[in-house]
Amino acid sequence: MDNQNRQVLLKRRPTGMPTIADFAITDGPLPDPDDGEVLVRGIYLSLDPYMRGRISAARSYAKPVDIDAVMEGRVVGQVVRSRDAAFGEGDYVFGGFGWQLYSAVPGKGLLKLDPAEAPLSAALGVLGMPGLTAYVGLSEIGRPQKGETVVVSAASGAVGAVAGQLAKRAGAYVVGIAGGTDKCRFVEAELGFDAAVDHRAADLGATLDRACPNGIDVYFENVGGPVQQAVFPRLNDFARMIMCGMVAEYNDVEPRPGPSLMSVVRKRIKIQGFIVSDQWQRWGEYRAMAAPLVRSGALKYREDIVDGLDGAPEAFIGLLQGRNFGKLLIRLGADPTRGS
Ligand SMILES: NC(=O)c1ccc[n+]([C@@H]2O[C@H](COP(=O)([O-])OP(=O)(O)OC[C@H]3O[C@@H](n4cnc5c(N)ncnc54)[C@H](OP(=O)(O)O)[C@@H]3O)[C@@H](O)[C@H]2O)c1
Repeated sequence: MDNQNRQVLLKRRPTGMPTIADFAITDGPLPDPDDGEVLVRGIYLSLDPYMRGRISAARSYAKPVDIDAVMEGRVVGQVVRSRDAAFGEGDYVFGGFGWQLYSAVPGKGLLKLDPAEAPLSAALGVLGMPGLTAYVGLSEIGRPQKGETVVVSAASGAVGAVAGQLAKRAGAYVVGIAGGTDKCRFVEAELGFDAAVDHRAADLGATLDRACPNGIDVYFENVGGPVQQAVFPRLNDFARMIMCGMVAEYNDVEPRPGPSLMSVVRKRIKIQGFIVSDQWQRWGEYRAMAAPLVRSGALKYREDIVDGLDGAPEAFIGLLQGRNFGKLLIRLGADPTRGS
């Protein structure tokens, strides 16, 4: 065992694409575990897109890494000294130890890993946070049905690969979007997706049309940017868009025009369209609730009544310019109940 610990610290917050000058590598003494702690030698450190958010000062769902602090990250490691009865030397563990070779951490924050269950590294990927992300996104939001078309971006990546395979297992027709022919070949040949589309090739929209002849029912969004723009207009009625991440936009310096759907992820906002005609059967229920309120004056309303059908076109144009004030109506004839 070395008697030095090497750490990567955040030196400054990057603008745009991070550079190595944003980080500092330092050597220091090995940490000493206190009572209830273990000293862990890191074996695998997971690097994940979310870390771009952690080194930015922008408000997000998690606290950013402080300047001069060790970069945050999940690690699989081995216990080299234990002061927690639940762990012995040689145990394999998983935890958030950060970008460093060794760390002294409370035993209660650790998960013991059994290397006979799966390769240790799997705890950081397919059996870890990314795998769980794919599973949660699909089961909570996407809910693909047999025969539906599911599109997954960053399809060869940690989350996308699991998402597509689980969608396949649910009986969906699954199309992966990935960057370059090697990744696309992997997505089709190794992961077993029905088709793969290269977002770097020309005319992504036309390629998607060919790959998804029945449109798209579920989109597992991992990248945003031009890929999102190509997928979005191809979503079917009642499609589900799983807003998992938008890695293509994480280094943006200027906000892109329009509201950023990334806040849907950060703030766990639910966006769902609807058309009232899907719920006509609830009209009676609504009237029963609202009519007494109208009669009593508790539910107020205002009407903007234009006399005569001839005024309809102009009134309609006015409506589109905000000239109406209240519910715009055309009076076509007398209303005896109003005495008009
Ligand atoms: N919501 C959550 O709780 C949660 C949890 C975990 C991960 N995530 C998100 O899930 C997404 C995937 O994460 P991952 O860990 O599985 O990463 P990953 O897919 O293993 O790696 C990122 C991939 O994104 C693609 N990419 C990067 N820049 C791109 C660009 N400019 N345009 C298009 N594609 C680009 C690349 O694949 P190609 O070359 O194939 O394009 C790259 O390999 C990320 O957005 C991440 O933030 C969200």
